[in-house]
Amino acid sequence: MKNVLTALVLLFAATSISAAGSLEGKGPIGELEFKEYCAGCHPNGGNRRNPKKPLGKKSLEGGDIKTVQGIVAKIRNPGPGMTRFDKEAISDKEATEIAEYILKTF
Ligand code: HEC
Repeated sequence: MKNVLTALVLLFAATSISAAGSLEGKGPIGELEFKEYCAGCHPNGGNRRNPKKPLGKKSLEGGDIKTVQGIVAKIRNPGPGMTRFDKEAISDKEATEIAEYILKTF
């Protein structure tokens, strides 16, 4: 029983440390990772493969994508012509930072 409690306390401590880390890295990581994984098809928030679906607010809202969660869902389960990225390729934390970058930039 004691071991379980210790494990929980350690887990909690580790989670809070990584949460603090993600706050620190916010802007730059989202931008860097966008450039690494997305900009090949979405240069400057456009869309080379399907010009009707760029990353600007109007187009996103037309597809009912209004939140960070909506963009993360698209990364995990994209439409035709877009690469699918699972958690191995882009972690939830990274996907969230990329989504925040998109919402505030395009
Ligand atoms: C291989 C090219 C390619 C890559 C790489 C790619 N996308 Fe896309 N993306 C597309 C295409 C094509 C569509 C349109 C798909 C559709 O019809 O739903 C799209 C659509 C989207 C949309 C919805 C746009 C809208 O107006 O409805 C979002 C959000 C998006 N991509 C985000 C990303 C993010 C974030 C990344 C990087 C993690 C990424 N994409 C990487 C090709 C790509």
